[in-house]
Amino acid sequence: MNTDSSTTSSKYGSVAQAFHWVTAIAVLAAFMLGPGGSEQHVYAASKDFGRQLHETLGLIVFALSLLRMLWRTVDTHPQPVPLAPLMAFTAKAVQAALYCLLFAVPLTAILGAWFEGHPLTFLAGLQVSAPFGAAHPVGVALAAIHTWLGDGILWLAGFHALAAIFHHVFLQDGVLSAMLPTRIARAIELRSGRTRMKRPLGRASRT
Ligand code: HEM
Ligand code: HEM
Repeated sequence: MNTDSSTTSSKYGSVAQAFHWVTAIAVLAAFMLGPGGSEQHVYAASKDFGRQLHETLGLIVFALSLLRMLWRTVDTHPQPVPLAPLMAFTAKAVQAALYCLLFAVPLTAILGAWFEGHPLTFLAGLQVSAPFGAAHPVGVALAAIHTWLGDGILWLAGFHALAAIFHHVFLQDGVLSAMLPTRIARAIELRSGRTRMKRPLGRASRT
């Protein structure tokens, strides 16, 4: 394991890639299973399983994001590809916003449920009650913010994914390949006949 944060490489490490893709899948699954409707509907006994699955996936996103931030402090980062200043700024801003949402989406849900007076309910019947008293209007507001942010993270991730595809197809600069396992990255480079990569595919050795 490389623990020297000053070194750089051409790709994200396999652990960083695993965090990225497992989180992306869990966010998508949580979004698709988002419980909608009135509070009575969301917390109806007939909706228990779907809500528990959604809350469990959301908590997995939260836990993975915490671990990912810790890992990021000790992992190497790929060398940035040369980009126009506005594009580089936009990419960084979108990634920072995604990180913020990975925490804000679960936190607004957790606090919203607790302020509304509901325990968190996870799969296998696990429940976590609020450590403070209910304040229902605050909870309702937080639950509404949670649904807006839940929609927002999907829109932003969609834009971010389209940008990654744009880099691959039009700029051919290796940005997408940096987040893919080498074997998959090589396969898509070969399939699309790409040869002009600004960032090599292999993981660079320590500098
Ligand atoms: C990244 C993770 C998450 C995403 C993307 C997400 C997304 C969403 C979305 C889009 C909705 C609205 C669904 C609709 O109106 O059709 C929703 C509702 C809800 N989510 Fe999440 N959620 C996440 C994490 C969590 C977590 C961790 C919890 C609880 C611990 C949770 C609990 C709820 C609840 C209770 C509602 C219903 C809100 C209400 O009272 O109207 N979610 N979620
Ligand atoms: C919910 C879905 C997603 C979320 C929350 C997300 C979040 C993130 C975040 C926070 C980073 C910054 C990583 C770091 O520097 O530590 C990142 C990087 C990246 N993501 Fe995603 N992502 C999602 C989906 C996707 C998809 C679908 C694609 C590809 C089609 C993609 C391609 C990339 C690439 C190529 C990078 C590296 C960008 C660079 O080095 O400048 N992501 N993503």
